[in-house]
Amino acid sequence: MKVVVLTGAGISAESGVPTFRGEDGLWEGHRPEDVATPEAFDADRALVQRFYDARRASLARVQPNAAHRALAELEQVLGDDLLLVTQNIDDLHERGGSKRVLHMHGELRAAWCTACDQRTPWLGTLLDEPPCPACGAHALRPDVVWFGEMPYEMDTIHLALFSCDLFVSIGTSGVVYPAAGFVDYAAAGGADTLELNLERAANSDFRVSRQGLASELVPAWVGELTATLQAGA
Ligand code: APR
Repeated sequence: MKVVVLTGAGISAESGVPTFRGEDGLWEGHRPEDVATPEAFDADRALVQRFYDARRASLARVQPNAAHRALAELEQVLGDDLLLVTQNIDDLHERGGSKRVLHMHGELRAAWCTACDQRTPWLGTLLDEPPCPACGAHALRPDVVWFGEMPYEMDTIHLALFSCDLFVSIGTSGVVYPAAGFVDYAAAGGADTLELNLERAANSDFRVSRQGLASELVPAWVGELTATLQAGA
Protein backbone atom coordinates (compact mmCIF):
# COMPACT_ATOMS: atom_id res chain seq x y z
CA MET A 1 0.00 0.00 0.00
CA LYS A 2 1.45 3.34 -1.06
CA VAL A 3 0.89 6.16 1.41
CA VAL A 4 1.70 9.87 1.21
CA VAL A 5 1.66 11.77 4.50
CA LEU A 6 1.67 15.57 4.61
CA THR A 7 2.42 17.27 7.91
CA GLY A 8 2.09 20.90 9.01
CA ALA A 9 2.73 23.01 12.07
CA GLY A 10 0.04 21.21 14.10
CA ILE A 11 2.16 18.06 14.43
CA SER A 12 4.88 20.04 16.20
CA ALA A 13 2.53 22.18 18.33
CA GLU A 14 2.59 19.78 21.28
CA SER A 15 6.39 19.84 21.14
CA GLY A 16 6.22 23.57 21.81
CA VAL A 17 6.79 24.92 18.28
CA PRO A 18 4.21 27.68 17.69
CA THR A 19 1.81 27.24 14.77
CA PHE A 20 1.38 30.02 12.21
CA ARG A 21 -2.30 30.75 12.41
CA GLY A 22 -3.13 29.78 15.97
CA GLU A 23 -4.40 32.06 18.74
CA ASP A 24 -3.97 35.66 17.59
CA GLY A 25 -2.64 34.74 14.18
CA LEU A 26 0.66 36.42 14.88
CA TRP A 27 4.07 34.88 14.82
CA GLU A 28 6.41 36.40 17.42
CA GLY A 29 4.66 39.69 16.76
CA HIS A 30 4.93 39.44 12.96
CA ARG A 31 2.52 38.26 10.33
CA PRO A 32 4.27 35.30 8.61
CA GLU A 33 4.01 37.13 5.31
CA ASP A 34 5.98 40.08 6.70
CA VAL A 35 9.07 38.06 7.55
CA ALA A 36 8.74 35.19 5.10
CA THR A 37 9.02 36.82 1.69
CA PRO A 38 11.98 37.69 -0.56
CA GLU A 39 10.74 41.29 -0.44
CA ALA A 40 10.94 41.33 3.37
CA PHE A 41 14.51 39.98 3.16
CA ASP A 42 15.51 42.68 0.66
CA ALA A 43 13.85 45.40 2.74
CA ASP A 44 15.26 44.41 6.14
CA ARG A 45 17.81 41.62 5.96
CA ALA A 46 18.76 41.89 9.64
CA LEU A 47 15.15 41.56 10.82
CA VAL A 48 14.59 38.40 8.80
CA GLN A 49 17.96 36.84 9.75
CA ARG A 50 17.31 37.61 13.43
CA PHE A 51 13.84 36.10 13.19
CA TYR A 52 15.09 32.82 11.69
CA ASP A 53 18.17 32.74 13.95
CA ALA A 54 15.82 32.80 16.95
CA ARG A 55 13.64 30.04 15.52
CA ARG A 56 16.72 27.92 14.68
CA ALA A 57 18.05 28.38 18.24
CA SER A 58 14.67 27.43 19.70
CA LEU A 59 14.89 23.95 18.13
CA ALA A 60 17.41 23.05 20.81
CA ARG A 61 14.64 23.49 23.40
CA VAL A 62 12.00 21.22 21.81
CA GLN A 63 11.66 17.48 21.42
CA PRO A 64 9.69 15.27 19.02
CA ASN A 65 6.35 14.01 20.32
CA ALA A 66 4.38 10.78 19.96
CA ALA A 67 3.05 11.80 16.53
CA HIS A 68 6.54 12.23 15.05
CA ARG A 69 7.61 8.92 16.57
CA ALA A 70 4.56 7.10 15.22
CA LEU A 71 5.37 8.26 11.66
CA ALA A 72 8.91 6.92 12.12
CA GLU A 73 7.37 3.57 13.09
CA LEU A 74 5.20 3.70 9.98
CA GLU A 75 8.33 4.18 7.88
CA GLN A 76 9.70 0.95 9.40
CA VAL A 77 6.55 -0.87 8.27
CA LEU A 78 6.04 0.68 4.82
CA GLY A 79 9.62 1.41 3.76
CA ASP A 80 9.67 3.00 0.31
CA ASP A 81 5.88 2.82 0.11
CA LEU A 82 5.72 5.80 2.46
CA LEU A 83 6.48 9.33 1.33
CA LEU A 84 6.58 11.74 4.25
CA VAL A 85 6.24 15.33 3.07
CA THR A 86 6.39 18.13 5.61
CA GLN A 87 5.72 21.84 5.36
CA ASN A 88 7.60 22.21 8.62
CA ILE A 89 11.09 23.62 8.71
CA ASP A 90 11.87 22.10 12.11
CA ASP A 91 13.80 18.83 12.35
CA LEU A 92 11.42 16.98 14.68
CA HIS A 93 10.56 14.26 12.16
CA GLU A 94 14.24 13.38 11.82
CA ARG A 95 14.78 13.49 15.57
CA GLY A 96 11.65 11.35 15.99
CA GLY A 97 13.36 8.66 13.92
CA SER A 98 12.17 9.25 10.34
CA LYS A 99 14.96 8.64 7.85
CA ARG A 100 13.40 10.03 4.68
CA VAL A 101 11.63 13.36 5.04
CA LEU A 102 10.87 15.67 2.17
CA HIS A 103 10.95 19.27 3.45
CA MET A 104 8.93 21.05 0.80
CA HIS A 105 9.36 24.43 2.58
CA GLY A 106 13.06 23.91 3.37
CA GLU A 107 14.81 23.54 6.72
CA LEU A 108 15.76 25.89 9.54
CA ARG A 109 18.97 24.01 10.15
CA ALA A 110 20.30 24.71 6.68
CA ALA A 111 21.72 27.76 4.93
CA TRP A 112 21.61 28.52 1.22
CA CYS A 113 24.27 30.56 -0.52
CA THR A 114 22.68 32.90 -3.05
CA ALA A 115 26.10 33.41 -4.67
CA CYS A 116 27.09 29.78 -5.43
CA ASP A 117 23.77 27.97 -4.79
CA GLN A 118 25.35 25.58 -2.25
CA ARG A 119 23.16 24.36 0.61
CA THR A 120 24.92 23.68 3.92
CA PRO A 121 23.73 22.23 7.25
CA TRP A 122 23.65 25.20 9.65
CA LEU A 123 23.21 25.28 13.41
CA GLY A 124 24.50 28.77 14.21
CA THR A 125 23.37 32.27 13.37
CA LEU A 126 23.22 34.10 10.04
CA LEU A 127 22.68 37.65 11.35
CA ASP A 128 26.46 38.12 11.50
CA GLU A 129 26.63 37.33 7.73
CA PRO A 130 29.21 34.50 7.96
CA PRO A 131 31.00 33.37 4.76
CA CYS A 132 29.64 30.50 2.71
CA PRO A 133 31.78 27.40 3.51
CA ALA A 134 31.85 26.57 -0.21
CA CYS A 135 32.67 29.88 -1.92
CA GLY A 136 33.40 32.38 0.85
CA ALA A 137 30.74 34.88 -0.24
CA HIS A 138 28.79 36.61 2.52
CA ALA A 139 25.51 35.67 0.87
CA LEU A 140 23.87 33.08 3.08
CA ARG A 141 20.14 33.06 3.77
CA PRO A 142 17.95 30.55 5.60
CA ASP A 143 17.25 27.58 3.31
CA VAL A 144 13.52 28.04 3.68
CA VAL A 145 10.87 28.59 1.02
CA TRP A 146 9.18 31.95 1.39
CA PHE A 147 5.83 33.14 0.10
CA GLY A 148 6.16 33.65 -3.64
CA GLU A 149 8.93 31.05 -3.98
CA MET A 150 8.60 27.54 -5.44
CA PRO A 151 8.40 24.72 -2.86
CA TYR A 152 10.99 21.97 -3.23
CA GLU A 153 10.53 18.62 -4.98
CA MET A 154 7.10 19.31 -6.41
CA ASP A 155 7.56 16.83 -9.28
CA THR A 156 8.37 14.00 -6.87
CA ILE A 157 5.42 14.93 -4.67
CA HIS A 158 2.90 15.13 -7.51
CA LEU A 159 3.98 11.79 -8.91
CA ALA A 160 3.66 10.17 -5.48
CA LEU A 161 0.24 11.76 -4.87
CA PHE A 162 -1.09 10.60 -8.18
CA SER A 163 0.03 7.00 -7.64
CA CYS A 164 -0.70 6.55 -3.92
CA ASP A 165 -3.51 4.53 -2.33
CA LEU A 166 -3.92 6.79 0.67
CA PHE A 167 -3.18 10.45 1.35
CA VAL A 168 -3.09 11.60 4.97
CA SER A 169 -2.90 15.25 6.03
CA ILE A 170 -1.81 15.97 9.62
CA GLY A 171 -1.83 19.26 11.51
CA THR A 172 -2.18 21.71 8.66
CA SER A 173 -4.78 24.43 8.19
CA GLY A 174 -5.06 23.84 4.44
CA VAL A 175 -4.82 27.47 3.43
CA VAL A 176 -1.34 27.58 1.90
CA TYR A 177 -0.93 26.27 -1.63
CA PRO A 178 0.33 24.12 -3.23
CA ALA A 179 0.09 21.80 -0.19
CA ALA A 180 -3.58 22.70 0.35
CA GLY A 181 -4.33 21.22 -3.08
CA PHE A 182 -2.68 17.85 -2.44
CA VAL A 183 -5.94 16.28 -1.24
CA ASP A 184 -7.67 17.02 -4.55
CA TYR A 185 -4.68 15.81 -6.52
CA ALA A 186 -4.54 12.53 -4.60
CA ALA A 187 -8.30 12.00 -4.86
CA ALA A 188 -8.18 12.63 -8.62
CA GLY A 189 -5.64 9.82 -8.84
CA GLY A 190 -8.00 7.48 -6.99
CA ALA A 191 -6.52 7.64 -3.49
CA ASP A 192 -8.47 7.49 -0.27
CA THR A 193 -8.01 10.64 1.82
CA LEU A 194 -7.80 11.17 5.58
CA GLU A 195 -7.33 14.27 7.70
CA LEU A 196 -6.00 14.24 11.29
CA ASN A 197 -6.24 17.73 12.73
CA LEU A 198 -7.40 19.70 15.74
CA GLU A 199 -10.17 21.20 13.63
CA ARG A 200 -11.49 20.69 10.13
CA ALA A 201 -9.08 22.31 7.69
CA ALA A 202 -10.12 24.97 5.19
CA ASN A 203 -9.77 22.47 2.34
CA SER A 204 -12.08 19.86 3.88
CA ASP A 205 -12.32 17.65 0.85
CA PHE A 206 -11.17 14.60 2.80
CA ARG A 207 -13.23 11.41 2.75
CA VAL A 208 -12.58 11.00 6.46
CA SER A 209 -11.69 13.77 8.91
CA ARG A 210 -10.77 13.09 12.54
CA GLN A 211 -10.44 15.96 15.01
CA GLY A 212 -8.11 15.87 17.99
CA LEU A 213 -4.51 16.13 19.14
CA ALA A 214 -1.86 14.85 16.76
CA SER A 215 -0.10 13.08 19.64
CA GLU A 216 -3.21 10.92 20.08
CA LEU A 217 -4.67 10.68 16.57
CA VAL A 218 -1.45 9.81 14.74
CA PRO A 219 -0.29 6.88 16.93
CA ALA A 220 -3.86 5.52 16.88
CA TRP A 221 -4.06 5.71 13.07
CA VAL A 222 -0.59 4.19 12.61
CA GLY A 223 -1.63 1.35 14.92
CA GLU A 224 -4.81 0.74 12.90
CA LEU A 225 -3.02 0.79 9.56
CA THR A 226 -0.25 -1.50 10.77
CA ALA A 227 -2.79 -3.98 12.12
CA THR A 228 -4.71 -3.92 8.82
CA LEU A 229 -1.54 -4.49 6.81
CA GLN A 230 -0.45 -7.34 9.05
CA ALA A 231 -3.89 -8.95 8.85
CA GLY A 232 -3.73 -8.80 5.06
CA ALA A 233 -0.15 -10.07 4.84
N1 APR B 1 -2.77 18.44 16.88
C1 APR B 1 -3.31 18.48 15.65
N2 APR B 1 -3.53 19.62 14.97
C2 APR B 1 -3.19 20.78 15.56
C3 APR B 1 -2.63 20.82 16.85
C4 APR B 1 -2.42 19.59 17.52
N3 APR B 1 -1.87 19.51 18.75
N4 APR B 1 -2.40 22.13 17.16
C5 APR B 1 -2.81 22.85 16.13
N5 APR B 1 -3.29 22.05 15.15
C6 APR B 1 -3.82 22.43 13.83
C7 APR B 1 -4.56 23.76 13.81
O1 APR B 1 -5.93 23.56 14.13
C8 APR B 1 -4.35 24.20 12.36
O2 APR B 1 -5.37 23.72 11.52
O3 APR B 1 -2.70 22.60 12.97
C9 APR B 1 -3.01 23.54 11.97
C10 APR B 1 -1.84 24.50 11.87
O4 APR B 1 -2.10 25.40 10.83
P1 APR B 1 -1.08 26.57 10.46
O5 APR B 1 -0.64 27.30 11.68
O6 APR B 1 -1.70 27.36 9.36
O7 APR B 1 0.21 25.78 9.90
P2 APR B 1 0.47 25.12 8.48
O8 APR B 1 -0.80 24.61 7.90
O9 APR B 1 1.58 24.16 8.65
O10 APR B 1 0.97 26.35 7.63
C11 APR B 1 1.32 26.14 6.29
O11 APR B 1 2.08 28.39 6.07
O12 APR B 1 3.25 30.31 6.77
C12 APR B 1 3.28 29.15 6.03
O13 APR B 1 5.25 28.16 5.28
C13 APR B 1 4.40 28.23 6.40
O14 APR B 1 4.53 25.83 6.21
C14 APR B 1 3.72 26.91 6.65
C15 APR B 1 2.44 27.05 5.87
